Amino acid sequence: MTSGPSSPSATDARRDRLDRATAHLDPPLAVLDLDALDANADDLLRRAAGTPIRVASKSVRSRAVLRRVLARPGFAGVLAYSLAEALWLTGGDGPVTDDAVVGYPSVDRAALRALAGDESAAARVTLMIDSPEQLDLVDAVVPPGRRTALRVCLDVDASLRVAGGRVHVGVRRSPVHSAADAAALARTVVARPGFDLVGVMAYEAQIAGVPDAPAGRPLRGLAVRRMQSFSGRELAARRAEVVAAVRAVAPLEFVNGGGTGSVDRTRVEEAVTEVAAGSGLYSPVLFDGYRSFAARPATFFAVPVTRVPAPGLVTVAGGGWVASGPPGVDRLPEPTYPAGLRRLPAEGAGEVQTPLRGPGTAGLGAGDRVWFRHAKAGEVCEHVDVLHALDGDVLVAALPTYRGERKAFG
Ligand SMILES: Cc1ncc(COP(=O)(O)O)c(C=O)c1O
Repeated sequence: MTSGPSSPSATDARRDRLDRATAHLDPPLAVLDLDALDANADDLLRRAAGTPIRVASKSVRSRAVLRRVLARPGFAGVLAYSLAEALWLTGGDGPVTDDAVVGYPSVDRAALRALAGDESAAARVTLMIDSPEQLDLVDAVVPPGRRTALRVCLDVDASLRVAGGRVHVGVRRSPVHSAADAAALARTVVARPGFDLVGVMAYEAQIAGVPDAPAGRPLRGLAVRRMQSFSGRELAARRAEVVAAVRAVAPLEFVNGGGTGSVDRTRVEEAVTEVAAGSGLYSPVLFDGYRSFAARPATFFAVPVTRVPAPGLVTVAGGGWVASGPPGVDRLPEPTYPAGLRRLPAEGAGEVQTPLRGPGTAGLGAGDRVWFRHAKAGEVCEHVDVLHALDGDVLVAALPTYRGERKAFG
């Protein structure tokens, strides 16, 4: 019998380790394997090869974990997903960082008021914009004469446009696509009182977030690799032009790009001063299937078996920890331990219970637990108050999630 990393005995050992360490706890519960987290952080640093990594906090959603990662040289600053979150992470009791870039435009008036009225917050938080409309909105909340200057970053569209723009490959974010678009918006920002233009961000989701070697789908992998290499070349040239054009208008502190799936290719571009990454730390299911890295799954959640509807079937409580994005089975959590469990297509991952079938049901009965991996990284934290931190074979801490700290940022 083989005993390689995926052999039955290795799988059993990984399951036993989780079961034994958490035996005194009642599921539902989530575990963060600190050994895997640290190894994943080191691997991101290796791939970044000296380019600083800004941590995408949406993919972490725990202040304690953010602090642990940011303590490693090479990680610097947070890419937050809401302004309220950025204010919390940079202020309050024990700031996590003094440098938070909000990765998306903010129209939260209360948070904008708080930012504009607090000089130290305004020095630590950078707003994202892609249109003068967002500047107008800020001015309407607090006029420029009555606030400290606010730091602004331009969000530049990194998608691939082909066939004269009729085909769009990538996500729908900013309307600012060309160097001319970016320079025009940069001139608008610098001409307006109460704003400081400090950065440019261009996130290439079609490269950073699409696996280029999906398991069992070689043709899809080939097509994705072709698209990514074409898009990567187009973007590198355009990003250099955009950055040169904006730098001619304002001195920039940073140019951010990339994500977990593209760290090693994005950092090569001279125009880029920092990369963003988050998902690679927890390494959820949607981040399996990349050629440039093989991260170790670091987060798992357990739900209990509550009944056995028929031989070869078990039903677990809950289990519907479904990820955001285009609806599909790839958004459902993956039953991982014991091996050999499958969902029933007719029921999927349920709100209050999830039936499972397959050889893995043998030996499972009420009170046993099934371990899942979430499809995405940070969203697992929306289901639990703490991540139980596993060091070696023992739990060493209960790390509060945002939810555990009574924070919900959408
Ligand atoms: C602006 C931006 N940068 C980077 C990322 C990459 O984050 P991750 O490494 O968690 O995939 C994302 C993810 O959605 C993003 O929206």
